[in-house]
Amino acid sequence: MPLHVLEHPLAAHIVTHLRDVTTKPATFRTLAYQISLLLAVEATRGLETRTRHIQTPLEGMQARVLAAEKLIVVPILRAGLGMVQPFSDLFPDVSVGYIGLERDHETAKPRSYYCKLPPLDGSTGRHVFIVDPMLATGGSAAAALTVVKQHGAENPTLVSIVCAPEGVAEVEKHHPGTIIHTAALDRELNQRKYILPGLGDFGDRLYGT
Ligand code: PRP
Ligand code: URA
Repeated sequence: MPLHVLEHPLAAHIVTHLRDVTTKPATFRTLAYQISLLLAVEATRGLETRTRHIQTPLEGMQARVLAAEKLIVVPILRAGLGMVQPFSDLFPDVSVGYIGLERDHETAKPRSYYCKLPPLDGSTGRHVFIVDPMLATGGSAAAALTVVKQHGAENPTLVSIVCAPEGVAEVEKHHPGTIIHTAALDRELNQRKYILPGLGDFGDRLYGT
């Protein structure tokens, strides 16, 4: 299964503090930035490089730099916004698109309320990363994958912080082969479709609502 769970002591430490109910929004935002930075590094492991001649203080050498491959990051509003800054800090040329989806509190089904995307046509050679911290039922992620593919994205990658097995299965069912990067694969969903043990409502904790 194309699910990559980030295995790193620092990642585990950060996720533990994100889960902790006593963590306040300001710290939560810092932790969300830190774990998203680690995930961004991991999710872009496959980027192409080219060689360039440079001069160190001691001698000349052929050295690797990133090929001119532009990335597109698409946060699912609103919680996904907390994962954008790490991508743009690492890749200043990144383009950002936005998909607004909100889970209905009764049905847990996603409702679309906003969509603004840059050109995603595969011919531009740009790779699309959909970022959303929580993959619960998978309804939001599956809907976002459908939207970016309808706009021309090829093989978009999904980056989340905490996943439920049900969400991973839902994405695999509707978008087989999608690569998912996450920092934690949790146990299950509860009756209200929240991830267990999870960390609660990410958006509420990020924005103090
Ligand atoms: C959360 C989260 C995901 C979605 C995951 O958003 O950020 O988008 O739920 O659930 P799913 O896998 O069952 O679809 P929410 O709907 O709470 O909106 P928010 O980001 O505005 O808080
Ligand atoms: N959205 C969240 O923010 N948390 C969950 O556990 C499930 C969906």
